[in-house]
Amino acid sequence: MKFYKPLSTVILMSGLVFALPLKAEIVNLSTPSTSLVLDAEKGGPFRFLYYGDKISASDIANLASAGTANRDAYPVYGNYPQGEAALSVTHPDGNMTLDMEVADIKTSANEADGSTVTTVSMRDKSYPISLDINYRTWPEEDVIETWVDITNNGKGTVTLNRFMSGYLPVRYGDVWLSSLYGSWANEGRLNQEPLRHGVKMIKNKDGVRNSHTSHAEIMLSLDGKPMENTGRTIGAALCYSGNYKLFIDTDDSNYHHLFAGINEENSAYNLKKGETFSTPALALTFSDEGLSGASRNFHRWGRNHRLANGNELRKILLNSWEGVYFDINEEGMAQMMKDIASMGGELFVMDDGWFGDKYYRDNDSASLGDWTVDTRKLPHGIQGLVDEAEKNGIKFGIWIEPEMTNSRSRLYEEHPEYIIKAENRDIVEGRGGTQLVLDLANPKVQDLVFNVVDTLMTKYPLIDYIKWDANAPIMQHGSQYLTRDNQSHLYIDYHKGFEKVLDRIRAKYPDVTIQACASGGGRANWGVLPWFDEFWVSDNTDALQRVYMQWGTSYFFPAVAMASHISAAPNHQTFRTIPLKYRTDVAMSGRLGMEIQPKNMTDEEKDFCRRAINTYKEIRPTVQQGDIYRLLSPYDNLGAASLMYVSPRKDDAVYYWWKTETFVNQQLPRVKMAGLDPDKTYTVTELNRIDNTPLPYEGKSFTGRFLMDNGLEMPLDHNVDYHKRNDYASRILRLKAN
Ligand code: GLA
Repeated sequence: MKFYKPLSTVILMSGLVFALPLKAEIVNLSTPSTSLVLDAEKGGPFRFLYYGDKISASDIANLASAGTANRDAYPVYGNYPQGEAALSVTHPDGNMTLDMEVADIKTSANEADGSTVTTVSMRDKSYPISLDINYRTWPEEDVIETWVDITNNGKGTVTLNRFMSGYLPVRYGDVWLSSLYGSWANEGRLNQEPLRHGVKMIKNKDGVRNSHTSHAEIMLSLDGKPMENTGRTIGAALCYSGNYKLFIDTDDSNYHHLFAGINEENSAYNLKKGETFSTPALALTFSDEGLSGASRNFHRWGRNHRLANGNELRKILLNSWEGVYFDINEEGMAQMMKDIASMGGELFVMDDGWFGDKYYRDNDSASLGDWTVDTRKLPHGIQGLVDEAEKNGIKFGIWIEPEMTNSRSRLYEEHPEYIIKAENRDIVEGRGGTQLVLDLANPKVQDLVFNVVDTLMTKYPLIDYIKWDANAPIMQHGSQYLTRDNQSHLYIDYHKGFEKVLDRIRAKYPDVTIQACASGGGRANWGVLPWFDEFWVSDNTDALQRVYMQWGTSYFFPAVAMASHISAAPNHQTFRTIPLKYRTDVAMSGRLGMEIQPKNMTDEEKDFCRRAINTYKEIRPTVQQGDIYRLLSPYDNLGAASLMYVSPRKDDAVYYWWKTETFVNQQLPRVKMAGLDPDKTYTVTELNRIDNTPLPYEGKSFTGRFLMDNGLEMPLDHNVDYHKRNDYASRILRLKAN
């Protein structure tokens, strides 16, 4: 909705008096429960007025008198250069200032996806540079995407020094930041801290992957210490696969200033005559139902509009990596397929080690780029495996790492010019001592990468799943394709190339399931997911550590996208011995799979997994398409963690509880449930039960109101035979409305 309202008032801010123009052109961007209010009077500055709970037309009319941010909606560098800017450029004549005014406002409805895009166009008062500042709203999701198109309408080249996707002022107060940090095998760790004066920056410079360490998504809790199910919360997710920078500058202005966009460091971008540079989108959400509320908004928006095949259920799979590593052979693959099929699984994925003819992929030091099957290991080729999968009534999937090569490969020997490398420098090698990154800025490399997938899919159309890995960062700044003047385009053009390839793949193969893996969880980002169905959360499959990693990751990503596998004990990363029940109960809170050698499992263990897989099929719609309510955080160190998923109609729910430490007679908090219909009655059934006796409330019914006010008591341990006792306890309860 857009309406014109004369505003003539004066507001007091930071001790300064600002007169608002007599006429304002209010742009009210509304979603079902939120409003973003802007002032875009033609010929005037573009101002931000409000973002939060939906407000009425009369409140909007009186906004200015209440005191609002009333700041530039997209601050540019030039006049009054003391504050941070979202955009800074150097004009062809060396002038470093921008002075922008609103030129136009347009709204266009996209009938295909139901979204509406409002574009505020701005022009510089003296230089031929213009901006389109875009906002996409959805009729059913409380998410607004914003991005900027910067156009050089002049003759000379403009250099973009900074080019953020968006800016948001947040009123100073007891505002807390929730963000994710981590490392390889320890991704998605939650960090919560109050915003203090100064700058808090979250950034990435990997070049290829961007979520091992920090994440390009944050939440801001506006009412003090973050709460899961209460409190006003803003979520911001930068949708970009490359280097990013999010920072919050808390200055003397009564506002925290949030900026998010591509990391401009070493990435100055030369915009030639007539060219437009489009930033990636920044997705914003607001909820007054706490962190979990903001998560639900992101999840729903993501599933409906951003994640490849987001509304579809994912298959239950066995991936070969931790079961056999590089030891791929036909009998081994056939045995794994038979085993996963016998447990009710639906898909088998052959991981690394299947390719290479000149050099062999027996370890990680050769053959990336040579995507020809190693017939020593697989005499009947991929077709033999596809046939074998079909025989077992399951689907077949395959691992590739198409953006990479090794110095020991045919590809590198034939095309050394395809790799990322600086002029006059020796190559810098990564994994296995030989890994190199292909230069996706080069259209020939783009074709090559597209062809890796296209050739596989053309030859073996029954391939159902691709695990797309990326195990190296950019290790030296240099493109053999880009001109000397444009070397600073490397990071950005790599990702433009990546997106072009993915566009082509998805145009031709919309239905194949593609996992974004990048040395584990290096590609958990909404900038990647339009082309990928899911991501590998981490190379660490230890169930206890997964409780923490998946908790953090669930802030921004839905369970349907979070690959979570049952693996062996002792765990291959932590060497911790966790019982199968607990390993399964954790894996079943995401997209369930297995990452294990089934041949080494006992019949009893296989039976347990068979039952669990069957059960998962029943709860899969609620887990993968339902609403998350996080209840008890493992980061609060209270001895347990708990969350639940509730179906959209609130007639089905799955409750998870995992003990995170064990002491005799320890006192654990009783967890209240959330998200249920208070007036519905739910019958409780325990899933994956191992106890000799059922829980006291097994088969009993309780109202949603009772469960949300009181929860159910969880026993400290499992009632199992003495030789089966251990120091882990976990529960999954299904709550079905009567
Ligand atoms: C990466 C992935 C693993 C596995 C190996 C194969 O580390 O994260 O899951 O696919 O590569 O080399």
